[in-house]
Amino acid sequence: MFRIRRSEFTSANTSDFVSFYINGELHEVRPSDGKFGPGSKLVDYIREEAKLTGTKFMCREGGCGACLVTVKLRNVSTGRLVVKAVNSCLIPVFSCDGWRISTVESLGNRKDGYSKIQQQLVNFGGTQCGYCTPGMIMNMNSLMEEKAVVKTKDIEDLLDGNICRCTGYRPILDAFKSLAADAPEELLRQAAVHAKQPVPDCLVPSDPCSEDLLEELPEEPQLTNIWAKFASEEEWAVPTTIAGIFEAVQRFVSSGKSYRIVAGNTGTGVFKNDGPYKGFIDIINVAELGAETVDSTGVTLGANVTLTHTLQFLKRIARSQMEGFSYALPMSQHINRIANVPVRNVGTLAGNLMLKHNHQEFPSDIFLMLTTLNATLSIASSSTRTENIPMEGWLTSSMENKLIVSIHIPRWLDNSYVFRSFKISRRYQNAHPDVNAGFLFKISQDKNKTVIEKPNIVFGGITSSFVRASKTEAVLIGKSLKDVSTLQEAMKTLEDEIQPSNQLPDASPEYRKALTQSLLYKTILQIVGVDASSKNQSGSKQIKKGKTKGKQVFDMDKSMWPLNKPVAKIEAAAQCSGEAVFISDILPQHRELFGAFVLSTIAKGDIESIDASEALKLPRVHAFIQAKDVPGPNNFMVYTNPEEIFCSGKIMYAGQSIGLVLGETRAIAFEAAKLVQVKYRNVEKPTLEPVLPPDEFDENWLTCVKTFNVVKGPERKVDDKETSPAETIVQGEFKFGGQYHFHMETQVCLCVPKEDHLRVYSATQWIDLTQSAIASALAIPSNEVQIEVKRIGGAYGAKICRATHVATACAVASKITNRPVRVFLDLQTNMELIGKRSPYTIRYKVAVDAAGRITNLKASVFAEVGSVINDSDIDDAAKFIQNCYDVTGWEVTKSEVLTDKAPNTFCRAPGTSQGIAMVEHLMEHIAFQLQKDPLEIRTINFIHDGSPLLVPYSPDETTFVGENKLLKMIERMKKSADYNSRTEIVSAFNKNNRWRKRGIAVVPIRYHLDFQGYKYPVYVAIYKNDGTVVVTHGGIEMGQGINTKVAQTVAYKFSIPIEKIRITASNNIIGANADLSGASVTSELCCYAATVACQILLDRMKPVKDQMKNPTWEQLIATCGKVGIDLTASHMYSSADPVKTYDIWGLTVSEVEIDCLTGEYRILRVDLTEDAGRSLNPEVDIGQIEGAFVMAIGWWTTENLVHDSVSGKLLTNGTWEYKPPTAADIPTDFRVTLLRKSPNPFGVLRSKATGEPPLCMGISVLFALRHAIYAARRDAGVTDYVSIDGPLTQEKILINCLTNPQKFDI
Ligand SMILES: Cc1cc2nc3c(=O)[nH]c(=O)nc-3n(C[C@H](O)[C@H](O)[C@H](O)COP(=O)(O)OP(=O)(O)OC[C@H]3O[C@@H](n4cnc5c(N)ncnc54)[C@H](O)[C@@H]3O)c2cc1C
Ligand code: FES
Ligand code: FES
Repeated sequence: MFRIRRSEFTSANTSDFVSFYINGELHEVRPSDGKFGPGSKLVDYIREEAKLTGTKFMCREGGCGACLVTVKLRNVSTGRLVVKAVNSCLIPVFSCDGWRISTVESLGNRKDGYSKIQQQLVNFGGTQCGYCTPGMIMNMNSLMEEKAVVKTKDIEDLLDGNICRCTGYRPILDAFKSLAADAPEELLRQAAVHAKQPVPDCLVPSDPCSEDLLEELPEEPQLTNIWAKFASEEEWAVPTTIAGIFEAVQRFVSSGKSYRIVAGNTGTGVFKNDGPYKGFIDIINVAELGAETVDSTGVTLGANVTLTHTLQFLKRIARSQMEGFSYALPMSQHINRIANVPVRNVGTLAGNLMLKHNHQEFPSDIFLMLTTLNATLSIASSSTRTENIPMEGWLTSSMENKLIVSIHIPRWLDNSYVFRSFKISRRYQNAHPDVNAGFLFKISQDKNKTVIEKPNIVFGGITSSFVRASKTEAVLIGKSLKDVSTLQEAMKTLEDEIQPSNQLPDASPEYRKALTQSLLYKTILQIVGVDASSKNQSGSKQIKKGKTKGKQVFDMDKSMWPLNKPVAKIEAAAQCSGEAVFISDILPQHRELFGAFVLSTIAKGDIESIDASEALKLPRVHAFIQAKDVPGPNNFMVYTNPEEIFCSGKIMYAGQSIGLVLGETRAIAFEAAKLVQVKYRNVEKPTLEPVLPPDEFDENWLTCVKTFNVVKGPERKVDDKETSPAETIVQGEFKFGGQYHFHMETQVCLCVPKEDHLRVYSATQWIDLTQSAIASALAIPSNEVQIEVKRIGGAYGAKICRATHVATACAVASKITNRPVRVFLDLQTNMELIGKRSPYTIRYKVAVDAAGRITNLKASVFAEVGSVINDSDIDDAAKFIQNCYDVTGWEVTKSEVLTDKAPNTFCRAPGTSQGIAMVEHLMEHIAFQLQKDPLEIRTINFIHDGSPLLVPYSPDETTFVGENKLLKMIERMKKSADYNSRTEIVSAFNKNNRWRKRGIAVVPIRYHLDFQGYKYPVYVAIYKNDGTVVVTHGGIEMGQGINTKVAQTVAYKFSIPIEKIRITASNNIIGANADLSGASVTSELCCYAATVACQILLDRMKPVKDQMKNPTWEQLIATCGKVGIDLTASHMYSSADPVKTYDIWGLTVSEVEIDCLTGEYRILRVDLTEDAGRSLNPEVDIGQIEGAFVMAIGWWTTENLVHDSVSGKLLTNGTWEYKPPTAADIPTDFRVTLLRKSPNPFGVLRSKATGEPPLCMGISVLFALRHAIYAARRDAGVTDYVSIDGPLTQEKILINCLTNPQKFDI
């Protein structure tokens, strides 16, 4: 029982509400308002109450950075002013008392002008879809407000928690680095050029908070207690002393309320299902918990010290070079890799430790280091009783009703201690460890490097109970680390001692065990230092991501401007200020309801019953909509095979939609959806991997696969002079996985019933399909469905057909309730409900002659389509498998294979990227088998004028006609990328380093762009009063810059400034019957249609113009208006238009380095050249290229999709598990060239498309990694071929390097 001597919470010193400022405006939040409770997050307050929708959200788990805002407060312990970026999705509203919060809106806007950060991001082309942009800006803003001097190094580390799927990060990094004190000259030069462009300067102070209000922040720490009681019986206490904490504890315990201590609250981003709690004790205002001291006994850090402050404090200690603290620097470096900047800014040491205590499987990096360093915890069990507990044993001690007060790390009394710690995670930044390791050795100062006392060897990520490798520690005592037998004994002991658990989606036990051995070896090599052989010393180093840099090369023809001009995207400034409105930003409509999906939890079986009664009992829940409620056919795929909006009985995959719960708010709807009970029967184990035929050339495949088709090149003539007789057969199989699109704006739709129609705001890439599907499902005419799409926050194919699923469900709900309904998926639903890029398998048998020329090729290609064949891309895969090669003697069989997974769908470069990947794999395999340079094999098989096509473009176009530009491009690349000398350097490096290897690989592409069948209307209207122009087109702006390119085209045709043109939202009135936006064709074809519409207008105005004397544009338009000329015109591009298809050529050289002991790698350099014709806008096109390439890096390396084998559920369904690239994953040196002097005689305005082809070259990274692995295997004595499938994760790298601890040597 607790004894409280006096009440800390008296009516005199306790308030029952919180108040804070947002952008200078005071906000008070009271429980009596009934709107926000303990579970409410700052992001919801900002968006819903302050109506500042510039702040976005996506993951709501601290993993994407969309929700960042800047916060200023005084540290209650030190009194220091703190400025930091925080994830508003994790911060409880009731934790914000006294804070000054700035959102992106405070930095600048259209009326007042834009801040420097906003301007630079616009100028450097740092936005595409713009959904991640406000988060990026607020992260940079926080840094600039925090630090008097910002260095480029700060910026390299800054974006570790911000995901951008569009840009490839380089332009964002450049924009921000241009603001650094040590900005590279090249960036300053670019910034100066851009400064001439019309982005208005900011006329307002960069942030209202930074001026007057900041002075109001009390110098003394804020000491108001808060106790807020809610109608839900939840209570939120904010004590200001430890005694106050224990009073709150006692109150909750005695009233039987389960409670949670709240510090930074970031733990809710990791463990989302803890609780439920009725009491909350927010301890962040307790000054006693914020100690940061260092003395002769060691370092003491208060429980509430954030990871950021810990890191900074340790760095200061390291800089001071005080004796006995040499652990400070490595420890700070390790902390720098925990979570990400905004999480570290609020996440506390004690919070991290308690996550480990409560969830012992959690591989806490803080726990690991503190255990290694023999730290002790000061734990209070009452306001007067504390005890010091060593880390060892703490995990198993009870923490019930206890509080961590502080942490003490002892100082070393002599210099013989060596501390090392490691974190191996599936992505370099913002990823929890697969395995982490801490080592503390006391080593003799003599030459022998003897282990003087029992070392500490600590591992995380092994099992929930494993902490120390005590047996290994024991065998090392008294041994010399230079002695190979010591090393071997340690490896053997570790091998026996480490028995990792096996639980998906964790990395495999085999890999995790190997890591423990490698990391111990690495540490020993570091201790042994130069006494190790020079080859082995390579094992002591760790892969570090260096400073990134980029170069962009392109031609400009000023005579064509504004065409071909690298102008900033026309909506970029609005994206940077938060003024750009996405569908989720449209303010709530009168009586709006929010819909949350109920998803199936099994993959195969039947629904027995659905019971929504518990959900419907919740206050403010209005309805549950299911299959039987759909007025028309229960189908959203009206043009192809039907797919149900809500499952009517037969479950086809885990995550399938069963119904939609409608509540008055997002939070209520999601809470209610959890209460819907679904019972299943006839449940079966799902088939999650494609079942392929036993024999690759068996004609009876149809029993296994759903469809079967053959494409063939011409047969090779027996007396073909070009080839010598086949000498080698190359045979094998190559598999690679799918990819989640990771669009930052999840699927979203808002339907509003109007007088005579349903108004639909849908994030769709295909308005026409969405319109038809809604009309069909609601059984209403098409003209009663009016759709508008202003912009979408990234899509990459996921919103071509799948957006229609969400839109039809939303429309049905709106129709039934006759109320506006919004459906905005949470990340987990988005990932589980919707299919991904199709995984593929190819089996092949290729006959090649001595030179490596393919004489005969038989291949079977299998596309895994999921549970329904609808968005299959196999036809494109079969076409693009030809890539740039002669297909004489080729025969390719293509099959679609069903699995019990969500129907797979189009994903950037669908089919084309898989087709090219498969054939490029063949080239690599042939080269390996013949021991030739892969580039030589590729070149010898190149297509040439007159070569046959595997899939004819039309009955009349059966051969390739024209020049294969690759030959010249390769010659140029050899010079510009130093290819030959770099391959030599790579070989020398590999010879000299046993545990580091490099690889270099080249991938060429011929990407045939086909416009067949597409239709895009464009409408142009000129206003007679001032000559301004408004345009709408049938495409969708999703970040690819279509609006900018269309505006440039119209400006060029009319010879007027681009500022005179406005592009309005796409809709299904003027854009009626338009095709989907995708396949890289839409921008060009809309530009084409715009040129025709403009020409119609010019022709119409010509007679008037001819009668005027050199009129200005405004004069001409005014006169035309007066005489009654129709100043509007439209044109729809269709196959009837004379736009010819063409080939896009590309070439990429990628170079990587791997660590053969851990599987970690970095991409050292990429030289990518793409033929963009005469680019319509080089800035936009380079952005497309870099973004696509980086998306491909993710596909081929870190992005692994894992399902539960029994339930079929996707286990990698959030940012914790699924890892697209962050800024640290891009090539260290990324050089992009738009092929020079290469106008396209066939395309629109001499340009070529850019959106998808570069993604097809991303496989060069996988090949480069393989080359590095092959070098490691050779050192391991294995020269046989191994295929190594994609994605090539770190785990696969290590396993395939055949790194064998028994061969570890000094
Ligand atoms: C995106 C993301 C990535 C991450 N990556 C990593 C990683 O790579 N490595 C890693 O180690 N961690 C990682 N973390 C975990 C992160 O370090 C913790 O979330 C953070 O340190 C927790 O601190 P907090 O103050 O937010 O704790 P809270 O969330 O407020 O609390 C967490 C738990 O600690 C309890 N608690 C807090 N303070 C005390 C106290 N003084 N006494 C008793 N109980 C207390 C709370 O009741 C709760 O149970 C990650 C987190 C996120 C969100
Ligand atoms: S929404 Fe906050 S980090 Fe993703
Ligand atoms: S611009 Fe970054 S996600 Fe689209």
